[in-house]
Amino acid sequence: MKVLIAGGAGFIGSTVASYLLDSGHEPVILDNLATGRREFCQGRTFYEGDIADPAILDQIFAEHPDIDTVVHCAALIVVPESVQHPVHYYRENVAKTLEFVDHLIAKGVTRLVFSSSAAIYEPGADFSVDEDSTVTAISPYARTKAIVEQMLADIAAATPLRVLSLRYFNPIGADP
Ligand SMILES: NC(=O)c1ccc[n+]([C@@H]2O[C@H](COP(=O)([O-])OP(=O)(O)OC[C@H]3O[C@@H](n4cnc5c(N)ncnc54)[C@H](O)[C@@H]3O)[C@@H](O)[C@H]2O)c1
Repeated sequence: MKVLIAGGAGFIGSTVASYLLDSGHEPVILDNLATGRREFCQGRTFYEGDIADPAILDQIFAEHPDIDTVVHCAALIVVPESVQHPVHYYRENVAKTLEFVDHLIAKGVTRLVFSSSAAIYEPGADFSVDEDSTVTAISPYARTKAIVEQMLADIAAATPLRVLSLRYFNPIGADP
């Protein structure tokens, strides 16, 4: 299976790419290297560019018409920075995701995994959250995730796109 990984030069995306390769699948990486690292893409199919750039998406789908699924890990993720620069965060995480998804649907993509976050849960009295916690995003970063989840649910209801929003908690570790 060929899988487009947006944000595949980052921590999570490059690990997903490693796992896909180990499982016999073929990752195709799109990353603008805003925070990602070129060396994490070494030896992998890599396109340097932005998820909201229609030209690079056209090129990727022309060269890989057999892309089956998309994993969307491309985002800015620093909570204090999102408080200081909310316009930037809503543009990068929400507005660009909308452009990206619109393009994916036009290309006939029907399967999308979205990297959401446990940051959208409201912490309890002991500051912990679990999957039964109330969804109340408490930072601009977290709100970008909650908004995109809702946006994708509406889009999935009206188009052939099937979406899985995966709420990461604390992924820790390193690929040797
Ligand atoms: N690391 C965590 O603990 C954690 C927890 C919950 C959710 N997440 C989510 O997982 C995803 C990946 O997080 P990460 O920790 O790997 O962060 P990261 O910063 O290592 O990776 C994000 C990648 O996206 C790329 N990127 C950002 N904007 C882009 C754009 N417009 N076009 C193309 N590429 C772009 C960056 O260059 C980077 O390589 C994010 O969506 C994040 O919200 C991460």
